[in-house]
Amino acid sequence: MQHTFKKICVLLVFLLLLPLQAKADIVFSVHANNPPFVYVEGKELKGFAVDLAKEIGKVLNEKVDFLPTSYQSEAIEAVKDGRADAVLVMGFYEGAGNSLVPTDPYFYPYYVMAVRKGSNLKLDDLKQKSVAVVGGSALESYLISNGFKNVVSLASHEEVLEALESGQVDGAFMVEQSYGYLTEKLEISDTILLPEKVQLAQYAIGVSEKNSILRVRLNDAIRQLQVSGVYDQLVERWLGKNELSPAFVNTLVRNIAIGAAIGAIVVALVFYWVLKMLRSNRRELAAAYEQLAAENQQLLASYEEILNANKELEDMRAKEKSLLGLMGQLRPDVEDESFYSYLLELALSLVPEAQAGSILVRDDDGYVRFRAIRGYSSLLSTLDLRPEWVYRPQGVEVVRELRDSAMPPEIAAVFSSARPSPIVVSLAAPLIVNKQWYGSVFVDSFEEVDFNEQSIELFESLTSLASAFTALKVHERTANRFLKEIILILVKALEYRDPYTAGHSERVAKIASDFASFIGYTGSTSEDIYWAGILHDIGKVGIPDFVLKKPGSLTPEEYAEMKKHPVFSEEILEGSETLRKYAKWVESHHERWDGKGYPKGLMGEEIPLEGRILSLADSFDAMSTDRPYRKGKNIQESIEEILRCSGTQFDPYLATQFTHFLKRYFL
Ligand SMILES: [Fe+2]
Ligand SMILES: [Fe+2]
Repeated sequence: MQHTFKKICVLLVFLLLLPLQAKADIVFSVHANNPPFVYVEGKELKGFAVDLAKEIGKVLNEKVDFLPTSYQSEAIEAVKDGRADAVLVMGFYEGAGNSLVPTDPYFYPYYVMAVRKGSNLKLDDLKQKSVAVVGGSALESYLISNGFKNVVSLASHEEVLEALESGQVDGAFMVEQSYGYLTEKLEISDTILLPEKVQLAQYAIGVSEKNSILRVRLNDAIRQLQVSGVYDQLVERWLGKNELSPAFVNTLVRNIAIGAAIGAIVVALVFYWVLKMLRSNRRELAAAYEQLAAENQQLLASYEEILNANKELEDMRAKEKSLLGLMGQLRPDVEDESFYSYLLELALSLVPEAQAGSILVRDDDGYVRFRAIRGYSSLLSTLDLRPEWVYRPQGVEVVRELRDSAMPPEIAAVFSSARPSPIVVSLAAPLIVNKQWYGSVFVDSFEEVDFNEQSIELFESLTSLASAFTALKVHERTANRFLKEIILILVKALEYRDPYTAGHSERVAKIASDFASFIGYTGSTSEDIYWAGILHDIGKVGIPDFVLKKPGSLTPEEYAEMKKHPVFSEEILEGSETLRKYAKWVESHHERWDGKGYPKGLMGEEIPLEGRILSLADSFDAMSTDRPYRKGKNIQESIEEILRCSGTQFDPYLATQFTHFLKRYFL
């Protein structure tokens, strides 16, 4: 059963394929009188379209047959009634209807108008004249639909041309190629084409609308012929090169395409060039900008350099100024603490690497003490240090991790508690006086740093100034000490002359200065009172021995002589620049509050305060000291005596205060 079914299927396929095999030939109906496209020569059908059809057959591997007709309309009819498959030459133009479906046009002929030479007719003129045309063609349709009133339809192009030549008609309407071909063949020379080409038409193969497969195949074949160049050969052979053939159109299209391609390439190149220009311009611009930016940068850098140089100069000036300021402080009247604090502050501003610092100076008592501290607890200033505990640099030194190992543990503990963190690196310099170490200056950093050259140089300059100041102070102290020693020697010499008053000056000096401190004396230093006390009786050197050394009571003359000693004291001290300030004090130590004293009889507050203080101290020492002629009063008796004389001999306020002082320190 299955076998039988297979047989039937094979048979059916064979039967289906059979009619296709029989219809393998393509039959083209052709209007046989359309030279040079289709025409009959002898018994043979010739022309461009005929050769084209044959080539199509080769491409499609089909046998091609022709069905010639006398009129174009007959050819169309043949396709419609199935006697032919396609009309080989179907001419049409834009806007014209078609009863068959055309393939893609294979040729583009121009409809042209021929007139007799010398007729001077224009195309429009001919609309009113008679124009001959092949009947049943697209040409005829064109004339009728375009306002040509007298259209003479004839059977062939030859007849059309002959009608014109003979003067039967005024114009002959055909395609350009037919006119050229026939005038040459028939040797017609008295006709001429109007200069304007009337209409661009198209030639295509017309197929029945039912046979769309054939149309597709024909289109494919025509394209293959155009691509392979066969088409161009046919055009060249039959129609000449200059015709507007599809090949020409193709060439044109190709040329246009090539042109367009070239144009596109040119445009692309131009575009590329413009782009490149733009890019290079942009690059140039960028380069220019970069250069400008670089120059600007350079300018800025120079400007910055100038600014920096200026700043450096200003810095230098500021440093110079501070150094000059420090040099201005190199005076003996400037206090140690004030100078060293100023110097340390300056050192820290000139050595930016350091965060803290200190200055240690050896005092006359041999102990070393902090005179200035920055960045550490002021606890350090309470320490009395032995020189061997302190680091003593030989010159300006960079010291790493300054150790307190030389100190006793309790002192080292104070040191470590006084620092915010351990010192990593220091700049240290000694204070040198007479080639001896007198102290150390330190600026310290709590982190690892390299002190730059400038810092070190400035530090060195500063510490040189500090050494100079220290030397000045040391010399001043030495000079003072020297002066004081001379004074004490002088006073001692005086006391050798007046053995009864031995030690009197020193006791008065001590009591007066202590009392000055007791009452909060602020007019000068208590040290000044002390020295005034030492010197108060110095004028006694001018008193003759017989008065000064007289053991008994003095005569009025002797007493008058004795009363001169405060004036002598005053005169002596006036002669000394350093001691002049004590002159009026010592001159007034025998004045009385009630004005009955000497040498001037000053009263109350006319007497200098220091003189009033000296008077109390002097009287107390005199009354409390044993004399050869009497025994000295004890403290209580002295207090009573002072209170008794308060307001007469003594300033009552000071007298009361003095009794308090005596009670406090002597009872
Ligand atoms: Fe005196
Ligand atoms: Fe005295």
